[in-house]
Amino acid sequence: MTQVTLKNFQDVEDTTVRQRVKLENQEVQAYLDGKLQYILNHRAVEHPLLNYYRQNAFTKEQEKKFYLECFYYFQYEPFYITGIAMNTRDYNILREIVLNVADEVGGEVPHSELFRQQINALGISNEEIESYQCLPTTTAMNQGAKQLYTEPPIERNLGALFADETMSAVLASQFNDGLANQGYDENVRKHWLMHLAVEVGHSNNAFNAIAPYVVDPKGRERFEEGINTYLQLLEEYWDGVDAIVRGKAPGT
Ligand SMILES: [Fe+2]
Ligand SMILES: [Fe+2]
Repeated sequence: MTQVTLKNFQDVEDTTVRQRVKLENQEVQAYLDGKLQYILNHRAVEHPLLNYYRQNAFTKEQEKKFYLECFYYFQYEPFYITGIAMNTRDYNILREIVLNVADEVGGEVPHSELFRQQINALGISNEEIESYQCLPTTTAMNQGAKQLYTEPPIERNLGALFADETMSAVLASQFNDGLANQGYDENVRKHWLMHLAVEVGHSNNAFNAIAPYVVDPKGRERFEEGINTYLQLLEEYWDGVDAIVRGKAPGT
């Protein structure tokens, strides 16, 4: 099982992965480390369904619902993240956003397409993807992320981004473990194998962007509002998926 810890974000050795900037202010450093730890421990991130999936095989029907809901959750995310740029005139923030989105769409094949290919490899067709009606909690997650990223203030945008990207590093490990446990080879898992490192860099993008803005209590309050609103939407999203995949009532 792949464990994602604070150390993964602090000590990045891969030169293609964005590192954290060195902060002079140790108190801000400790504050952001504390928030990262808070995100890692949150039930939305360590969700029972995801930890179940690491070690228990889904039926084909469960797998289909699980990945189709994910598809509608992630859909258009790079567009929303790009929207953050309109709420600032700080070039340091713009740089981190551009680096983040360049990972998503700057390669030969956009990540959204790689994810679609993975779903296709599981036997889910493009027709099934297009005709699928996702849960209201999934629409709420997608639209909530759009709102969190595009409406000011910038501190809240970056709180949501920090929660989203830190969670994504964990999610990559959960999905990779789940797929490997089910016997899927590295070719099917390549999207997630790559994201184990990529998402750490994305969390560091958010870390670098927000650091100068969480020196004062007002900045922190807005930043934390972004983190908590994102995590609340995410927890409701996974509870919704768990209800249709395992028949679990929310919160259990
Ligand atoms: Fe990606
Ligand atoms: Fe990301």
